[in-house]
Amino acid sequence: MIIVLTGAPGAGKGTQAELLAEKCHYRKVSTGDSLRKHVKEKTKIGQDAAVYMDAGNLVPDDVLFEILLHEIGTKKDEKIILDGYPRNVDQAKTLSDKLAGTHAVVRAIHLDVNKDQLTKRLSGRRTCQDCGASYHIEANPPSSEGVCDRCGGQVIRRSDDSPDKVANRLDVYENKTKPVLDFYKDRGLFVKVDGAGSTQEVFNRLKNELAAACGG
Ligand code: AP5
Repeated sequence: MIIVLTGAPGAGKGTQAELLAEKCHYRKVSTGDSLRKHVKEKTKIGQDAAVYMDAGNLVPDDVLFEILLHEIGTKKDEKIILDGYPRNVDQAKTLSDKLAGTHAVVRAIHLDVNKDQLTKRLSGRRTCQDCGASYHIEANPPSSEGVCDRCGGQVIRRSDDSPDKVANRLDVYENKTKPVLDFYKDRGLFVKVDGAGSTQEVFNRLKNELAAACGG
């Protein structure tokens, strides 16, 4: 089964998906992480995708579907938390049309955070360029400045976290991704969770929601 975790850039999807994987035995699948891995390894997909990602635009749907199929795999009977997909209504349709037989979406959880908070979170985010661990200069800094607690790699600002790119990513979210919420509302799968407050507070809300909706 798949839990779709949706929300604007900076809503905390990656942070919460990581916690759900660590503490609740979900498998995290993140299309953003997969794309960044391709970029880092300079694969053909990565080279093509980098142009879109650097500008804060969506990477074409066919590339994303290829990545999704690879990441989801064929194993059934697992709990997947899907971060970053679907990003438009066509992707949502593809997910429900092509994967429902093996991996049905049972909930789409929207992390709701206001624009001021989103901007603050993204402007303060720092990311390990080796393992992808995410930090925030105020809310969750690494113990030693610029050094990843998890792997010792260098902690830097993501190239798409500069103010002009953040503004474009928020526009893309409004215009292309927000309609996905209605797609799931129409199917009775949509749940909104308040994404404000500390990471732990948001995590507790999510856990309660998942326990009520899917038994844990
Ligand atoms: P992706 O990596 O998915 O980026 P995003 O959706 O813009 O989301 P972010 O990673 O920016 O934010 P998040 O919600 O995960 O927040 P986080 O937990 O890090 O995609 C990147 C690009 O890849 C896209 O622009 C696109 O080009 C491409 N792409 C990916 N998927 C695609 C698809 N399906 N189709 C087409 N293109 C695709 O938190 C943010 C910061 O806030 C961190 O510093 C964190 O420490 C901090 N924080 C988190 N929670 C809290 C809290 N409760 N309180 C205080 N700080 C907090």
